[in-house]
Amino acid sequence: MYASLALQRAHGAAFRPAKRLLPSLVGAAALLAITLLPAIARADDQDVIDYRQHIMKTMGAQMTLISQILQKKAPPEDLATFTQILAISATTARGAFMPNVAGGKSKPDVWTNWADFSRRLDALVAGTDDLAKAAKSGDVTATASKVAALGCMGCHDVYMQK
Ligand code: HEC
Repeated sequence: MYASLALQRAHGAAFRPAKRLLPSLVGAAALLAITLLPAIARADDQDVIDYRQHIMKTMGAQMTLISQILQKKAPPEDLATFTQILAISATTARGAFMPNVAGGKSKPDVWTNWADFSRRLDALVAGTDDLAKAAKSGDVTATASKVAALGCMGCHDVYMQK
């Protein structure tokens, strides 16, 4: 009798908070949808430019961190993390440049030569993915040479205003 009561209490304690958590999660998701959807629907040209610049800046920050590690100025165990963030960020660049919105530091050639520009972005995705795999395997020499092969500067030389 006492044992079954204790069990009931234990169950009650375990399940009651979960029941309370569910409606609040649903509420949070609904709130997020309400606050995010109109913002996306209203994205203007400046938002489009800001968005692609923030993605590029994220990649720039990862490259700085990666080169600090390769120069032995930062903990080597973090190399896999930052190469992965770089690779994931690179996958978002194509969609960010897709809207034909001139401005920022982009030359109009980004959109007039979209086939070449997007091919370079695809190469960036493949290259950063390759880099992340090399870093995960702990091969620092391979990682360093794959960083050099990424072609960040090659694209900036052609498509970014000085
Ligand atoms: C396919 C071409 C291309 C590749 C590849 C590329 N970029 Fe860029 N990047 C651009 C363009 C175009 C801009 C200008 C964006 C704008 O302001 O509209 C830019 C801007 C930037 C900026 C400046 C952002 C700002 O607002 O100040 C940084 C930092 C940057 N890129 C870092 C990188 C890094 C790091 C890599 C490689 C890992 C890279 N980019 C690869 C095309 C490219």
